[in-house]
Amino acid sequence: MELSKKLQDALNKQVAFEYEAAYKYDGMRIYLKDLGAPGATKWMELQTWEEVHHAEDFINFIKSVDGQVEIHAIEGQTTDYDGLVSVWEAGLAHEKEITASIKSILEIAIKEKNYEAENFLRTYVDEQVEEEEHFTDVLELLKKAGDDKAAIFKVDGILGTREK
Ligand SMILES: [Fe+2]
Repeated sequence: MELSKKLQDALNKQVAFEYEAAYKYDGMRIYLKDLGAPGATKWMELQTWEEVHHAEDFINFIKSVDGQVEIHAIEGQTTDYDGLVSVWEAGLAHEKEITASIKSILEIAIKEKNYEAENFLRTYVDEQVEEEEHFTDVLELLKKAGDDKAAIFKVDGILGTREK
């Protein structure tokens, strides 16, 4: 099925949104490295690359249905945060924005009866449930650790065990 201009524009916007997430998480990674939290740094590095893969996945989908890919500009992102909790709070807030964006594109696909796009986007609705869960899980661990340096050190070790 041919991609409508409206759906194509929304998908291209999502490509930029995914790259923006990668850019944002790389800013967090830089902050975490300076903070001296190697496990948290590794976690965020993997998250950064995951977002790049999401962007590529959207690009591949647009191309698979003979759409035109556009790469939009991405805004600069901060490397300035106020501790580990603030990083994961900002990350979770961003993931919620991404979820809302994907759902709004899915609504367009449903309205236009574009089943290929609908199927593709539904896998991303599932993906976003996981993404929000990942951020929430870390946030809970960090909040439990509070100001306890030994506990924070332990959480950092757990974050460092992330493999993909
Ligand atoms: Fe993503």
